[in-house]
Amino acid sequence: MGRKRWDSRLAFILAAVGSAAGLGKIWRFPYLAGKYGAGGFIFPYLIALFVLGVPLLMLEFSVGQKMQQGAIGSFEKLHSKFGGLGIFALISSFILVAYYAVVIAWSFIYTLVSPKVGWSGDAQGYFFNNILEVSEGIGVLGGINWEIFAALVAVWIIVYFCIWKGPDSVGKVVKWTVPIPILLLLIFLIRTVTLPGFLQGWELYLTPVWSALLDPEVWIQAIAQVFFTLSLAFGVMVAYSSYKDEKADVTKDSWITAIVNSCISLLSGFVVFGILGYMAYQTGTPLKELAGESGVGLAFVVFPKAIELMPLAGLFGFLFFVILLTLGVDSAFSLVEAVNAGVQDKTDRWHAAQVAFIVGVIAFILGIIFTTRAGIHILDVVDHFITTYNIVLVGFLETIMVGWYYGAEKMRKVINKVSDWHLGKWWNYSIKWVAPIGLGFLLIINFIKEVPSLHKWFLANLPWTSALVGESVGVYGGYPSWAIGIGWGVVVVPLLFFLYFFFTKKPEAEVVES
Ligand code: TRP
Repeated sequence: MGRKRWDSRLAFILAAVGSAAGLGKIWRFPYLAGKYGAGGFIFPYLIALFVLGVPLLMLEFSVGQKMQQGAIGSFEKLHSKFGGLGIFALISSFILVAYYAVVIAWSFIYTLVSPKVGWSGDAQGYFFNNILEVSEGIGVLGGINWEIFAALVAVWIIVYFCIWKGPDSVGKVVKWTVPIPILLLLIFLIRTVTLPGFLQGWELYLTPVWSALLDPEVWIQAIAQVFFTLSLAFGVMVAYSSYKDEKADVTKDSWITAIVNSCISLLSGFVVFGILGYMAYQTGTPLKELAGESGVGLAFVVFPKAIELMPLAGLFGFLFFVILLTLGVDSAFSLVEAVNAGVQDKTDRWHAAQVAFIVGVIAFILGIIFTTRAGIHILDVVDHFITTYNIVLVGFLETIMVGWYYGAEKMRKVINKVSDWHLGKWWNYSIKWVAPIGLGFLLIINFIKEVPSLHKWFLANLPWTSALVGESVGVYGGYPSWAIGIGWGVVVVPLLFFLYFFFTKKPEAEVVES
């Protein structure tokens, strides 16, 4: 029996876009664009997209397609020393999906309460006290919040039935979960332009801040966002492309995925800023203050507050949370499918549906910690470390693996053999030099910022680096050191798998000789 296949090219592209277009569309992209001015952010974003994002997407698409396996098997076949990199990527996926599903569970509860605008009058209090019942600090678990627990069970049941037949069922589901949020965002867009004040929002969104182009921090954020948004470095794109025919196109599919995904980002930026403009107009709150909110605060506090001001708040509240749900679900199951594919390649003892079940149950159990009353604090720490270090480290190592161990030129030939649009030599430079240097740089800067004593040392001894590492020490913090320790654990434990295999496995050539 051969490997499972997508039933059409469209199914594959929709699945890839579905993974890329996730919760980050609502709170990451608009927030960054607002902070630096879209004109100031979109330029670095596009450069990072073309120079790093698309080349790496091509790399992941071609690795999966050529090797016909999930991340562990594919990387191992590419070079025997890199099997552990697949494990690194998949453990990171496991952890990400464990908490990602919890955020979807919150959205699920919100869809249920939105017809009655449950948060009416006090969106902030509603979110933190009624829904999360948040404890006073990360050290106080406060027991499981059973409402969220139940919602999480529901989310996992949905996710399971989306992937239980691998690409067959994924292909069918994404025909709905990708167009629905796009359509709803368009409905929101139409609603937005009929509300007073939306133009001020758009103005803030689109006004270029040219000085931002000279700010290294903007470039760092742009690189990180491109990585995050394309779902790179988690084994997702490798697994999905392994269900393609070996002779299928690589370059065109990569461009289509990247461009469609970026258009959805821009669209949600227009919606988010239009609504924030309306809210500023209605409440007199400065727009900058509203737009400064990112992450869960934007989606579960500021946005519901804005919706409450609108006519038909119940309907629009419902639609908004359906957007979050549909954006989130196909990203979540792509992560499970990545792990699923990676495990299935290694054992034929179980059927796909059984492996998916086991993977889902383990991720669900891991996620229970996020349903406690300290869940949002723990989620914040784990998310910070996964998105700042795991993604970047895995991406960096992937470029080293292909650029230096397998050979960029060899991979470029593989890609060109199957693709209509041929890749020029520029791709080799990107994979061998630009991407590893850019990502390595990102890692070092983030690490310096992370460790306050190191940060202080740099500011004191190398003052010129302050433009890179920032003036304010300890930006990310306020957590006890054991919590930060857990954060590092999330990075280091999977990294150890990589290091172990990297240093113990002999390269293939030596194995043959001995
Ligand atoms: N791209 C997703 C978003 O924008 C987030 C994400 C990052 C992701 N890496 C992933 C989702 C891997 C699924 C798989 O929200």
